[in-house]
Amino acid sequence: MKKSIGNILALYPTPAVVIGAAVNGKTTWTLVAHVGIVAHDRISVSLHSAHYINKGIKENGRLSVNIVDENMLPKADYCGVVSGNKTDKSRLFGSVTGAEGTPIIDESPLSMVCKVEDVYECNGFENFICSITDTYADDSVIDDNGKLDYNCLKPVLFEFPTYSYLRTGSVIGHCTDAGKQYKESIAE
Ligand SMILES: Cc1cc2nc3c(=O)[nH]c(=O)nc-3n(C[C@H](O)[C@H](O)[C@H](O)COP(=O)(O)O)c2cc1C
Repeated sequence: MKKSIGNILALYPTPAVVIGAAVNGKTTWTLVAHVGIVAHDRISVSLHSAHYINKGIKENGRLSVNIVDENMLPKADYCGVVSGNKTDKSRLFGSVTGAEGTPIIDESPLSMVCKVEDVYECNGFENFICSITDTYADDSVIDDNGKLDYNCLKPVLFEFPTYSYLRTGSVIGHCTDAGKQYKESIAE
């Protein structure tokens, strides 16, 4: 039996990522969990317009998306607690410059350099719609066939209702296998 609990934002978990950009030529990092996929070649990053990093993203039209793993969680969480408006976060992570001069985090297992294609403004948030220019993956998360291995890549997940981080679990099946079996089971 389900009961109505109101119009709760409940589309979780989402991956926690650290967004990187340069503001006035200086690197800054911001923790974001409201990210999404809007097409096979487009992602969305939702940032409140008061955030410091937005200025740099709009200036350069570029940002990086750095997947957070448990090792880097304390520093990533710190990026969500302090603002570049008051605190210099440029030296928080070891970083290198990825495609188009965009900073990416050394200790993140996977970083994507993105180009801003569009901005959808909604209720005080700037939703950056981005294409992916290049993706950088640590050897430890790539399998023998050169594909990303999500048995090894373990993004920290986020949920808003209790403001908590979660772990990913184990692989429970190959997509479409269970659906095909079910289809066969109901075939006349
Ligand atoms: C777990 C977590 C998730 C967050 N997700 C978002 C988000 O999706 N969008 C957003 O605008 N702010 C989000 N924030 C808040 C920003 O990270 C925070 O306000 C940060 O200090 C802004 O930094 P800046 O002003 O240097 O850009 C999140 C914070 C935490 C702790």
